[in-house]
Amino acid sequence: VQADPDARWMARALALAARGRYGASPNPMVGAVVLDANGNLVGEGFHSCFGAPHAEFVALAAASQRAEGGTLYVTLEPCAHTGKTPPCIDAIMSARIRRVVVATRDPNPVAGGGLERLAEAGMEIKLGVHGDSARRLNRRWLRHVQDGRPWVTLKAAVSLDGRIATRTGQSKWITGEKARRRSLELREEHDAILVGVATVIADDPLLTRRLGFNPSGSWRRIVLDSRLRTPIASRVVQELPEQTILVHGMDAPRSRQEALARCGVELLEAPTGHDDRIDLLSLLPRLAKRGIAALLVEGGAEVHGSFVDADLVDEVIFFVAPLIIGGVAPSAVAGLGASELALAHRLVFEEVVRHDLDLELRAVRSEAVAEEPDVHGVD
Ligand SMILES: NC(=O)c1ccc[n+]([C@@H]2O[C@H](COP(=O)([O-])OP(=O)(O)OC[C@H]3O[C@@H](n4cnc5c(N)ncnc54)[C@H](OP(=O)(O)O)[C@@H]3O)[C@@H](O)[C@H]2O)c1
Repeated sequence: VQADPDARWMARALALAARGRYGASPNPMVGAVVLDANGNLVGEGFHSCFGAPHAEFVALAAASQRAEGGTLYVTLEPCAHTGKTPPCIDAIMSARIRRVVVATRDPNPVAGGGLERLAEAGMEIKLGVHGDSARRLNRRWLRHVQDGRPWVTLKAAVSLDGRIATRTGQSKWITGEKARRRSLELREEHDAILVGVATVIADDPLLTRRLGFNPSGSWRRIVLDSRLRTPIASRVVQELPEQTILVHGMDAPRSRQEALARCGVELLEAPTGHDDRIDLLSLLPRLAKRGIAALLVEGGAEVHGSFVDADLVDEVIFFVAPLIIGGVAPSAVAGLGASELALAHRLVFEEVVRHDLDLELRAVRSEAVAEEPDVHGVD
């Protein structure tokens, strides 16, 4: 139990924020709690879905006049701009809140600056309560706003010896039903699912977000397919083609472009690198601009290798089965790889979860939690 009441209420606001984990992206997850002038809880809320009211707004609406003279706890600096909804600072001022406690700054130059405005209006401001937890909660979003590219999660089902298929290309199924269900859940937390064309040809995956956890209908599946080899009969073309983006190079045959466009998929021409494959460093910012803040990369080995070689991996989630494939079967990550251990992509283990016979291993980039931006004028 946390003795400091500010820490306690902020922990509650963070728990509320986390309820937005499936719908908020590409917006941040935000939670808010309102206490009346006597310290009683009178309102709470969270940002549930992109385009829905902000957390402060929901909490203040629930509190109504009881918010007057009270305290607002909010996990992210209230916005000072009009986006899909009006500025939260206006709602806070008109509710006549006395004190605002915030976990972390909004680094987004368009939305930030709310704290200064509230301080100028005479409110008491406290910043930084559970700041690290708030940044950790929103690290995918922070990657998007601070670096202009999506957070990249690499996901694979692997054998104990790190293989993703047999030497003949068979991969169904390495892991059991529970692990596979869990990997469908991961899709609900991401804005897009990306694979290489060889995976489409080998496995004909559906690649949909289909559990219904995410209230936002906006998701995409993306295939890296320099020469447009994706078969017309494949499920990514035949089922929900409007959700599919085939990323191809300049030299993709015109006839393939026309045939696939007629099926209703989107074709996105992108620069290719020296290996004639899609250049990820230029592709990712373009995906970010389309509101893809969290990208789930589901293989295969070549695609994983390209992301690792380009140092674009933020999180790795491997479902490991107690099974040894051996021989020349493909490993989870191909590409060039590291020449020395010192240059290998080092991560930090975060979690291990058991799903029947399988293990889910999660690791993140060690610097994945961003630093608090400088604070001017507010303590
Ligand atoms: N166990 C698992 O979790 C899992 C998951 C997925 C796949 N798999 C297995 O993995 C195998 C397929 O993997 P794979 O490594 O052969 O192929 P892949 O990674 O699925 O696809 C590679 C192909 O994608 C295209 N591509 C375009 N841009 C690329 C880029 N920047 N980087 C890499 N590729 C790019 C290239 O073809 P073009 O040059 O023609 O564009 C390349 O040959 C299958 O056997 C499948 O069953 C297993």
